[in-house]
Amino acid sequence: MLFQRIMTRHLHNPMPLPPLHPDFTCLVTGCTNGIGREIARQLAEAGAHVVMAVRNTTRANVLIEKWQCDWSKMSLPLNIEVMELNLLSLDSVARFAEAWNARSVPLHVLINNAGIFSIGEPQKISKDGFEEHMQVNHLAPALLSILLLPSLIRGSPSRIVNVSSTIHHVGFVDPEDMNVSTGKRKYTNLAGYSGSKLAQVMFSSILNKKLPSKAGISVVCVSPGVVQTNFARDLSKIVQIVTRLFPYYKFSPEEGARSALFAATDTQISEFCKKLESDDWPVCAFISHECRPTNPSEEAHNLETSYNVWEKTMEMIGLPSDTVQKLIEGQQVKCRYGSHQD
Ligand SMILES: NC(=O)c1ccc[n+]([C@@H]2O[C@H](COP(=O)([O-])OP(=O)(O)OC[C@H]3O[C@@H](n4cnc5c(N)ncnc54)[C@H](OP(=O)(O)O)[C@@H]3O)[C@@H](O)[C@H]2O)c1
Repeated sequence: MLFQRIMTRHLHNPMPLPPLHPDFTCLVTGCTNGIGREIARQLAEAGAHVVMAVRNTTRANVLIEKWQCDWSKMSLPLNIEVMELNLLSLDSVARFAEAWNARSVPLHVLINNAGIFSIGEPQKISKDGFEEHMQVNHLAPALLSILLLPSLIRGSPSRIVNVSSTIHHVGFVDPEDMNVSTGKRKYTNLAGYSGSKLAQVMFSSILNKKLPSKAGISVVCVSPGVVQTNFARDLSKIVQIVTRLFPYYKFSPEEGARSALFAATDTQISEFCKKLESDDWPVCAFISHECRPTNPSEEAHNLETSYNVWEKTMEMIGLPSDTVQKLIEGQQVKCRYGSHQD
């Protein structure tokens, strides 16, 4: 945190984006606040068709009106729409993907940004039966990414950008205890959050390996840096006051959005992902808050655990483990969630 501003002196703020075509469709989750709100606004102002996938649709519509007013100096209306998505319900995720895929239109970029870090709260289990950090930060985005593959193939070359965190470096995932509920390990909010972010990186690495290059889909994880958002709203008052004393060192949401915007639009990302794949590199591309390729944690390089996390995740999200292959071949898959349930 102390050095992030110095290390990013080379970056402009806001990140200059290339002009984007109105048919270039970017779906951003959790964009009514924080980093996601900046990602959605900046992609729309660059000309893209932006889909705000949010749990509070009213707030999203109010934001669009505001952005449109602020943007009225330009003659073109912003090309943004809102769709409801609640990551605490895997049914909501599956229904969202069904609704989107039913349009039979291309999707070029999926940005899995929404996330939670419930500091100081007791361990919470979702109605689907999963620890909430694991569900919101990993399982639900994993289900969304897989179910949207048909649309991403249509939009190829396309990208899945997962907003990760450097905190995954202190994370640990036991594929046999993804909910941290067996008592083998003590649950803390930090263990829940960091484990979910590590699981996301591991799953992304295996997804990247399972996607053949002909599918034309790149999978990238990004770290936004330490960003002043609502994210740490549950921190104790004292810690909040202390962090507010050092505003210089924290990124603004605009600055925190840069790594995701870079991963979504930089022209060299696909080539970089292909190179990692051809080198049989164990992890997917990881872009730092400096908008440079970096290495995820040592644990993320553990391929055996990553494959186990993949298998366990597929089981938890109710998909057969050969789903990716089937979707690539244009076959239908059955999901435990959504309207086409088993
Ligand atoms: N801030 C940081 O320092 C930091 C550092 C590293 C990584 N990150 C990552 O950056 C991402 C964005 O975080 P942020 O800092 O911008 O936090 P934020 O201001 O709290 O925004 C989080 C967004 O996620 C949405 N969300 C939460 N639960 C959801 C659910 N069940 N279904 C759908 N959407 C949901 C929120 O929706 P509402 O608007 O309805 O609440 C909000 O729009 C997260 O993945 C986080 O892990 C943040």
